[in-house]
Amino acid sequence: MFSLFNKKTEVPKIPLKVDIHSHLLAGLDDGVKSLEEAIDVINDLVEMGFEKLVTTPHVMNDTYRNEPTGIQNGLTELEQHLANNGINIELQAAAEYYLDEFLYARIINKESLLTFGDKYLLFETNFISEPLQMKEFIFQASSQGYRLVLAHPERYGYMTMEKAEDLRNRGVFFQLNSLSIGGMYSKSVRKMALQLIDKGWVDFLGSDCHNPVQSKILKALQKNKHYQRACSLSLLNNTL
Ligand SMILES: [Fe+2]
Repeated sequence: MFSLFNKKTEVPKIPLKVDIHSHLLAGLDDGVKSLEEAIDVINDLVEMGFEKLVTTPHVMNDTYRNEPTGIQNGLTELEQHLANNGINIELQAAAEYYLDEFLYARIINKESLLTFGDKYLLFETNFISEPLQMKEFIFQASSQGYRLVLAHPERYGYMTMEKAEDLRNRGVFFQLNSLSIGGMYSKSVRKMALQLIDKGWVDFLGSDCHNPVQSKILKALQKNKHYQRACSLSLLNNTL
């Protein structure tokens, strides 16, 4: 019998429990500007069902020269603030490394880099053209046991499905930004995101949240059918 009470108005619970990409350590990059903003974002993520967050400050030679000690200090400060506010969520920190000659040199020099899970290393590139060192970087880093995770492949102007396939054949994991699915960056980024979802070429979903405005958009995205479809892929998020 029809009943108003049977109407499913609740947002379906997406079983994504671990986020692997965000900018929640205030003052380290272009992410949250204060501990209060971090709490605002984290409250949204908790509401979405996340139980663990790996936050990933930018490491970029020209702009954000973050080192493990500074990142660890930022993490400890945020953890204390969360505890003081009675928010229960597991936090870890790694980094989002920008691929350029400096990162390539760090790999060649076998410097230790921040990873999460089983040696997953999150990296990004410039948005215009494929870095010259891309293939050699993938080869060298993989040889050292790193499992490379390319942040938001859908956002790079140079990315094509052919290039994506080649990178995957080289063992690169793909982390799609959830916000790309809703069209937050651009129509073409959204299109590429949907193509990658269609192919099943998504290994991780990431919030890439920089501020509370984005976490509100992310929350609203839970109802989006493409987001739900992405969540139903064989993602590695919950294995961490
Ligand atoms: Fe990011």
